Amino acid sequence: MEKLYEGKAKVLYPEGEDTLRVYFKDEATAFNARKRGLIPGKGVVNNKVSAALFRYLEAHGIRTHFLEEVSEREMRVKRVEILPLEVILRFRAAGSFAKRYGLEEGTPLKGPLVEFSLKNDPLGDPLICPEAILALGLAGEAELEGVRATTLKVGELLKAFFAERGLEVVDFKLEFGRREGEILLADEISPDTMRLWDMETGEPLDKDRFRKDLGGVAEAYQEVLRRVLGEGV
Ligand code: TMP
Repeated sequence: MEKLYEGKAKVLYPEGEDTLRVYFKDEATAFNARKRGLIPGKGVVNNKVSAALFRYLEAHGIRTHFLEEVSEREMRVKRVEILPLEVILRFRAAGSFAKRYGLEEGTPLKGPLVEFSLKNDPLGDPLICPEAILALGLAGEAELEGVRATTLKVGELLKAFFAERGLEVVDFKLEFGRREGEILLADEISPDTMRLWDMETGEPLDKDRFRKDLGGVAEAYQEVLRRVLGEGV
């Protein structure tokens, strides 16, 4: 079947007017695709983890694009017009935030912090402030406030979900889409798009293992899937 779009980690196939099929690949990139590799089984993990999290969030009042899992590596979603924003929620300093402000990884923040980046690979996804989002017409005022409130709510829900499974949510990235005047949570939520630290050992069990060449990458993804599916901590 003809592709609608192929990204770094997923392929989108059209399925009529209203829905898409998302295929999750094992290919991994980091640092704006300057680093490339393969994480065997990643596509299966990210599909299953995203599906489980979308179902959990829907059950707690978050509207998402998710419809159903259709295979090990594929899910069916509603078609949306993706807002060109990466919405990041941070509970602790890590990654680009720790680097930007010269902080040690893991420094706690006083409260959850919402940040926005412009989704633009040639520009390297630069940070963008809410005023610039409004000035450029990337989202309306009500949309932006909705996105911020939903992101904070998703943060509370994911923190609780993973804490029950012995994992601390350090930060994550969300994307949102417009559909018939409504804003839906879209894209994926997986170890590619969040930082998860084991609560006992402090070890990262997410894409940082790939970014930083820590080893045990595929195993970490499998461990996250195992815990998400509730197969014991
Ligand atoms: P950062 O600290 O590198 O800005 O990343 C913050 C969070 O966003 C982290 O959980 C990883 C996630 N993320 C993505 O999902 N996609 C990206 O392209 C980047 C840079 C980060």
